[in-house]
Amino acid sequence: MSRPYETIKTKKEQITTWITLNRPDKLNAINATMLQELSEALDTTEKDTNIRCVIITGEGEKAFSAGADITELQKLTQETAAEFSRKGQQVFSQVETLSKPVVAAINGYTLGGGLELALACDFRLASIDAELGFPEMKLGIIPGWGGTQRLAWTVGVAEAKRLIMLGDRVKAEEALNMGLVDKVVPPNKLKAEAEALAQRLCECPPTALKYAKHAINSGTQGSLEAGLKKETDFFTLLFSTKETKERIEAFGSRETKKRETVKSE
Ligand code: COA
Repeated sequence: MSRPYETIKTKKEQITTWITLNRPDKLNAINATMLQELSEALDTTEKDTNIRCVIITGEGEKAFSAGADITELQKLTQETAAEFSRKGQQVFSQVETLSKPVVAAINGYTLGGGLELALACDFRLASIDAELGFPEMKLGIIPGWGGTQRLAWTVGVAEAKRLIMLGDRVKAEEALNMGLVDKVVPPNKLKAEAEALAQRLCECPPTALKYAKHAINSGTQGSLEAGLKKETDFFTLLFSTKETKERIEAFGSRETKKRETVKSE
């Protein structure tokens, strides 16, 4: 039995486990608690021999996840940034190396860390209103939870540079054309389509499925370890710059302004 979670929900449906990112009022932004709870839920799922497939989605209609919780980014220093990056990488690598297939059912905003999580999944189904991208550059940082590596493997170097370096955001149909998602479906069909895919996966022989997943991942990735280490090094380095601090803090002052406006109304 898993413990009750604060930031995610888990639900077993026959031989599939649904993991739902559950901070809808914050567009399911991923904070340290959510990372920890995701890790625990994945461990539980790994150990549960009855479970054959996992589906990850976001609570509410607005977002799969709008990325790392920026209020936590605001507190990072050069000393703590490396640990922050490594923790996210470790949890998303857990998704990637899980012995069962993982489907991302992408609804709404799927940005930054949210997209990094989706990229660690084996299959990505997107609702037609999904919007995907890496806004990190605007904050003066780079994706630090595996995005620099997995995006390039998934869509190629040219598109990865466009999305990460220029910060271009793409709608579901464009994401489909570039191979970032596997299928686009109407919002009200997302759950049923994810279940149908999970059903097909559950019908596959689990051991062959597990080895296929690992073989494909290890064959396409080159040196993941070296790539992830480099990503952490650069992510950390950026926290020594004034530019990054200012940009991340600007999101905070936007929030304060919003609150002040609400109060004065
Ligand atoms: N971290 C923390 N809080 C976040 C967040 C994030 N990444 N993304 C959204 N939120 C919070 C907002 O602060 C707001 O909280 P509040 O209601 O307490 O003020 C709430 O979620 C709703 O977001 P809001 O910005 O009001 O919604 P919107 O529809 O106007 O805009 C986005 C949606 C996704 C365009 C906008 O929220 C955004 O740009 N988010 C940041 C995305 C990002 O840079 N992610 C990468 C982080 S590395």
